[in-house]
Amino acid sequence: MAETKSKLKQYQKPENIINPDDELAIEVRGLKKYFKGKKGFEDVKAVDGISFNIKSGEIFGLLGPNGAGKTTTINMLIGLIKPTDGTASIYGYDIRENLSDVKELIGVCPQEHAVFKFLTGRENIELFGSLYSMPKEDLKKRADELISKLDFSNASKRKTKGYSGGMLSQLNLIISIINSPKITFLDEPTVGMDPRARRRTWEFIGNFKNERRTVLLTTHYIEEAQALCDRVAIIDYGELLDIGSPKDLMKKYESDNLEGVFMKITGRRIMEGM
Ligand SMILES: Nc1ncnc2c1ncn2[C@@H]1O[C@H](COP(=O)(O)OP(=O)(O)O)[C@@H](O)[C@H]1O
Ligand SMILES: [Mg+2]
Repeated sequence: MAETKSKLKQYQKPENIINPDDELAIEVRGLKKYFKGKKGFEDVKAVDGISFNIKSGEIFGLLGPNGAGKTTTINMLIGLIKPTDGTASIYGYDIRENLSDVKELIGVCPQEHAVFKFLTGRENIELFGSLYSMPKEDLKKRADELISKLDFSNASKRKTKGYSGGMLSQLNLIISIINSPKITFLDEPTVGMDPRARRRTWEFIGNFKNERRTVLLTTHYIEEAQALCDRVAIIDYGELLDIGSPKDLMKKYESDNLEGVFMKITGRRIMEGM
């Protein structure tokens, strides 16, 4: 906490560096988002000045209870909403100034699923893939590969109208990486999945490492984040409370699991308030 606070104090708007050899995938500097409060109420400090780096190829977890500011952080990084203050860059491209370059590099699996109900899973995948102007044959091959890896073959032939929450999560995950983005943002990627699908999905995300893909994910499944993430940031009330590898954090807070670390830092369980 002390370290994070002192980093914030040292915050200076970074120059808009574009360095192809840069090992950093994401640099977040003093990022803030305040939403206007309802009449007579204070502003909501959804994200209140957070700073962190994500290295290229890292699987990085943003952990925090409901309302901590995870989705708001992601939405700023992908250009859906504008920061109130601070900034971030993705492979050197500033999200405020070079958003179109940022968009070329990223894939997004949003918390609120967005698919066309009257198309099948596969048709949705191909439709979204075609937006990236992928050649038809490549798109078909990539879709086949992802559908098979996630064991999604049967579901992919059905209209998404009747999909369960877990099936929608799987479909959105496939869509988010159809164009093989350098960085993938996964906001609660396993919500609604049964344990088997969840395990398969985490394995699948774990394999991104071999492909040198950078991942920023949020999740409530803290034990899985512990197993999968190279580093995690623990956030609550819009503030970053600590950051490190699960192993280092467990050592620092003398706990044999991340849930215990979370309890020690925030005084509550991550699932509270769900
Ligand atoms: N568009 C919005 N207008 C007002 N308040 C918002 C808006 N979006 C999010 N918030 C508030 O900001 C806080 C952080 O929300 P969010 O980033 O969705 O948290 P998380 O993803 O960690 O659950 C919450 O208090 C939420 O109610
Ligand atoms: Mg969220």
